[in-house]
Amino acid sequence: MPSPSDIARWIREEHAKAFDLIAQLTEHVAAIPRTNIEPWLRELKEEFERFRAHMQQHFALEEEGGYLTAVLQIRPALQPEVDAFTVEHRQLSQIMTSVNAEVAGLEPSQTLHIRDVCARIRNIIAMLEQHEDHENNLVSHVFTQDVGSHD
Ligand SMILES: [Fe+2]
Ligand SMILES: [Fe+2]
Repeated sequence: MPSPSDIARWIREEHAKAFDLIAQLTEHVAAIPRTNIEPWLRELKEEFERFRAHMQQHFALEEEGGYLTAVLQIRPALQPEVDAFTVEHRQLSQIMTSVNAEVAGLEPSQTLHIRDVCARIRNIIAMLEQHEDHENNLVSHVFTQDVGSHD
């Protein structure tokens, strides 16, 4: 099993990558062009698909051999928190899959649909940021402050 400091570093690096992608996507949806929307929309489709795939893989890594198993080994009493994160992974994943299908089907002429989908993407970003912040708090609580304590 990796050491607590390895796990804390791994999750920090993973979340830094996720926050980079979140920042790029935030910028993209904040800049819907008024004219010649086609290249912007094509880029949005590619970017959101990459984003969804990255985040779903991130959730899978956290669950399989990532920090969630390690949290339970160190602190079995945190099972409800770990379960809640896993349930959020399922929900965020489903929401991203359904929004991705909507994004993929957008036509440049559907300007109001595009605005609607961008609002949903901003909402997903807000939920993801909150999820990742809560994970960072858990990780710093379990792997940083409590190094060496096993209860
Ligand atoms: Fe997570
Ligand atoms: Fe995460």
